[in-house]
Amino acid sequence: MKLIKKRCSLSVPNRSLEHDHYWMLDENIEVPPRVLEFTIETLSSAYSLYPLLYQLATKAESIIELGIGWGKSTNSMLWGLKNGKQGHLWSIDCGNIHTDEAVAKIKSLDIAKYFTWVKKDFFTIPDEWFKEHKTDLVFIDFNPKRLRPEFVYKSIYPEEPHLDRKNIKRDCRIMMDKLLLSMKRDGLLVMKPYCCDTDVYKMAKEGLIEIVFEYKQDLRFIILRKKQ
Ligand SMILES: C[S@@+](CC[C@H](N)C(=O)[O-])C[C@H]1O[C@@H](n2cnc3c(N)ncnc32)[C@H](O)[C@@H]1O
Repeated sequence: MKLIKKRCSLSVPNRSLEHDHYWMLDENIEVPPRVLEFTIETLSSAYSLYPLLYQLATKAESIIELGIGWGKSTNSMLWGLKNGKQGHLWSIDCGNIHTDEAVAKIKSLDIAKYFTWVKKDFFTIPDEWFKEHKTDLVFIDFNPKRLRPEFVYKSIYPEEPHLDRKNIKRDCRIMMDKLLLSMKRDGLLVMKPYCCDTDVYKMAKEGLIEIVFEYKQDLRFIILRKKQ
């Protein structure tokens, strides 16, 4: 896989901005203005990722995303699917006001048929589900140590126990192990590493994954490939 650093100026409806460089998988895959617009809105935190996710999604048949939030990554990948192999995106998110709004917007667009919202706490989804949903692309955009929904969204999960510190430590590895069940061999996983680095490097040593690309500056992200 080749990633290119590229400087570009953007002109999107109602805005014309000089925008900084971002990483491209393939210069021949045009990124549509609606995806670049998310990039402008987010500027410092995720500017490189949305075009990259769009480009990866054009080559994917099946994708799992962790974290819909405001729906920017979700939209970027859905447009990629539509303009690519017309595959499917399963987005796992326990839900909140932003997510409801983002999903309502997606449902009103002609990308809706490529999309399924799995409205659940990731950690409650059984391993079987992951085995049944084979993917060639996974995108992780939540911090499993900090954003447990039973902690943040108590109103949705009144029955759930409070955060147990012992479990938190194991969450990253549990998350990665579950996702590996769904990934096709040589499938790619893009993640903002948050505090998962240790687990990721350990898994690379174990030969389960290979680190394909690591961007260590302001926005940090890692691209991994499943080995076994
Ligand atoms: C940072 S936001 C995602 C942003 C989105 N990818 C974007 O680019 O606009 C994180 C999301 O993860 C969800 N989340 C956090 N922990 C979760 C869990 N354990 N299971 C399911 N969803 C979770 C939250 O509800 C939130 O919507």
